[in-house]
Amino acid sequence: MSGGVYGGDEVGALVFDIGSFSVRAGYAGEDCPKADFPTTVGLLAAEEGGGLELEGEKEKKGKIFHIDTNALHVPRDGAEVMSPLKNGMIEDWECFRAILDHTYSKHVKSEPNLHPVLMSEAPWNTRAKREKLTELMFEQYNIPAFFLCKTAVLTAFANGRSTGLVLDSGATHTTAIPVHDGYVLQQGIVKSPLAGDFISMQCRELFQEMAIDIIPPYMIAAKEPVREGAPPNWKKKEKLPQVSKSWHNYMCNEVIQDFQASVLQVSDSPYDEQVAAQMPTVHYEMPNGYNTDYGAERLRIPEGLFDPSNVKGLSGNTMLGVGHVVTTSIGMCDIDIRPGLYGSVIVTGGNTLLQGFTDRLNRELSQKTPPSMRLKLIASNSTMERKFSPWIGGSILASLVRGKGLGTALNVGEGCPDCSCRLCLPPHSLIQQTFFFFLRFYLFER
Ligand SMILES: Nc1ncnc2c1ncn2[C@@H]1O[C@H](COP(=O)(O)OP(=O)(O)OP(=O)(O)O)[C@@H](O)[C@H]1O
Ligand SMILES: [Mg+2]
Repeated sequence: MSGGVYGGDEVGALVFDIGSFSVRAGYAGEDCPKADFPTTVGLLAAEEGGGLELEGEKEKKGKIFHIDTNALHVPRDGAEVMSPLKNGMIEDWECFRAILDHTYSKHVKSEPNLHPVLMSEAPWNTRAKREKLTELMFEQYNIPAFFLCKTAVLTAFANGRSTGLVLDSGATHTTAIPVHDGYVLQQGIVKSPLAGDFISMQCRELFQEMAIDIIPPYMIAAKEPVREGAPPNWKKKEKLPQVSKSWHNYMCNEVIQDFQASVLQVSDSPYDEQVAAQMPTVHYEMPNGYNTDYGAERLRIPEGLFDPSNVKGLSGNTMLGVGHVVTTSIGMCDIDIRPGLYGSVIVTGGNTLLQGFTDRLNRELSQKTPPSMRLKLIASNSTMERKFSPWIGGSILASLVRGKGLGTALNVGEGCPDCSCRLCLPPHSLIQQTFFFFLRFYLFER
């Protein structure tokens, strides 16, 4: 098929949002991604001669990748875990390709050359990496058209905005990214490593202090109910393979992440020991049956996100809390556009789903917003929208473009003022103008 995929052919564009935590992929125009699986994959050095390729297994140059939730969860001798991303950017291209192959064959179930692709990228992605990715998509996957768009811009789109301050707290980092008329203002990006993984680390320390073992479900053959706080009564599976440390660790992290989502809560005002002691407790049971109530620690652990000054182990402690990340970012932008940014602070990312996160942020920002400006926090109540917002924005963008027969706008070669390559589109191309037109129509004229 030639480049004119939009010339009447009913072939859907595909949208990929590949974050440090999970991969989301699916067809443009749908409400949620078809696929959502961990970005972390299992990796095994293949034996001589290889073997049959099983579900979720991809063999590349003597390496077998175990991709997707099911394949990754099977305990195997010596399989390590790895991620193709580092700092939100692609680092291991072989692993990245294995993930794309898996997505095409097991989720999309179609040939790559049939579908234009819209892919999200980190706002700080480098020119060399985007060129390499574009080359890969055209030359190895033979896709008909390619569009790269910054995650923050897509998140703004998903929330019906072309201007706003996108606060994204995911697994590896919390960032504030100013978006103005569909452009990322690079000079205003502020990043902090205090995000989901940091909270997981704090929970791990809590379990260590309380002498609670983290036993992932793969080790458990049977368990008996026990009284609250009593030692767990469980049986270990016999004949477990010799799993690697990294894989075991990943399985422990999944247990911790569930604890994080079920138990923790961000305090609505700065942490106060006495208030925390009055906190209603939450009962939580570990996979091995150990169960107890958690009280003050529910507030103490996530407090570091907003006030890093008391966090143990943060050396020198120059890190910014979430409220500061936002105000610092806005402060680095032109004074004329600050009201527009305070007026649309868009909250996104899995870590912002911590109970109480947006209330605390709202409170902190209200105190810091200059009196001449109006503060508005935009945070969807739906878990799905908060986790998938870049994907949803991509889905809207790609389907609007397609619906209006503007397919040629998705083609390469127009030249890009952002990175001055000839590989990706100018942000203010026809597509985006059309998009804003329809968006306005959709939001205000209905
Ligand atoms: N309901 C929840 N409550 C608390 N934390 C959650 C919840 N759901 C997910 N998380 C946390 O959110 C993080 C993943 O967020 P997200 O899916 O936005 O990351 P990502 O976009 O893949 O990664 P990144 O943006 O860092 O590249 C994990 O640390 C996870 O533990
Ligand atoms: Mg993300």
